[in-house]
Amino acid sequence: IQYMKKLKTENYKGVRDFYPRDVFFQNYIFETWKKTVESFGFEEYNASLLENSEIYKAKTSEEIINNQTYTFTDRGDREVTLRPEMTPTLARMIAAKKRELSFPLRFYSIPNCFRYERPQRGRMREFWQLNVDILNVKNDKFYDIEIIKLINKILLNFKATSSDFTIKINSRTLLNSVYENYYEFNANEALTFQRLLDKRDKISQDDFTKEYEKITDKEYRDIENINDVKVKKELDYINEIIEVCKSSGISNIEFDQNIVRGFDYYTGVVFEVFDNNPENNRALFGGGRYENLIDLFETVKDDVNISGIGFGIGDVPMMNFLESRDLLPPFINSTDILLGVMSHDQKVIDYADDVANELREQGKNVSINYDNKKVGDIMKMAEKNSIKNVVVIGDKECEEKKFEVKEL
Ligand code: HAM
Repeated sequence: IQYMKKLKTENYKGVRDFYPRDVFFQNYIFETWKKTVESFGFEEYNASLLENSEIYKAKTSEEIINNQTYTFTDRGDREVTLRPEMTPTLARMIAAKKRELSFPLRFYSIPNCFRYERPQRGRMREFWQLNVDILNVKNDKFYDIEIIKLINKILLNFKATSSDFTIKINSRTLLNSVYENYYEFNANEALTFQRLLDKRDKISQDDFTKEYEKITDKEYRDIENINDVKVKKELDYINEIIEVCKSSGISNIEFDQNIVRGFDYYTGVVFEVFDNNPENNRALFGGGRYENLIDLFETVKDDVNISGIGFGIGDVPMMNFLESRDLLPPFINSTDILLGVMSHDQKVIDYADDVANELREQGKNVSINYDNKKVGDIMKMAEKNSIKNVVVIGDKECEEKKFEVKEL
């Protein structure tokens, strides 16, 4: 006899098991996302969660590629990564079918993504992320604004109000102008500085200053106080977007010079949406405009410029947002009727099966219990599982060919 140690029931760190109730609430989130983005004309796409690692190396986030990817070598010696985000996959797909697709495109997807992060409130190692992107639009403010309107609409469709969240917006063009005209950085220094800004709220002020002084001896200045015509022009662009949003009823949008975003591919507006509940302190949405990501692929000639604007939002921070405001609907079991058979007599069982099938024909979802339980126990079971209706079939029902549907 071989003795085996019993297995643990714990799952892998940072991933979740989904019992039917968890699936119900996740589906509610997915369906509300889908309904809203489809109402804005977005079409669903999908892809495998396995990608060749190289697509993340050219232009992504230093933090993600060095510390957060699940990467392995397959049996054929290929380096494979579980997607940490969807944008490089989308860029690859667009580049691959560039000739067949008719632009501009409105694409969305709800993939699961994997990041080797420290699990914490709002962040897991496996999460689902709504991705919404408009492709092949020039750096055009109308689409920048529409994307913000869509984000706002998504949250309103969950019955949130504008005091529940804040949209913070900045621009890489503005930041680049600051690097060039105020700091006079070269490209390398600019990237180092930007990555420092991106982790600013994760490090201490002292560490920030130390790193800052390694890059430049210029005095730190708020962007609004930088007196430069080119910087002012870029700031005006952001302010114009903010004004248009405000005049169409989105009051909770503001310029924030600390929003830089971790990904290297952004080139235009960048934004993040924050939950105003301080317990949910991680960003709810993140996104922006990227102009050269698709050009990385061999099918795209240097002179064709496919631009994109889009965002991602995770199921985990979305769930926290809704839970902390009591905005989730009550759980409803997908089973409409629990049918209890009160006998082990084959005749009664056959009749119960016929009844169940008849009800199924009528579109009802029916679960049969053959355990010969008491009526009270069947009722209790239905209640515990949030099943709305009960039918019991015993000798009497079988003989009279008549039964009653009890609503709980
Ligand atoms: P991101 O800021 O890395 O951007 O992620 C966007 C959103 O995904 C976050 O605001 C958060 O809601 C969710 N998220 C990220 N990491 C986690 C995690 N570990 N657990 C749970 N939720 C998470 C991107 O991924 C860009 N590719 C978005 C984009 C699309 N930009 C343009 N198009």
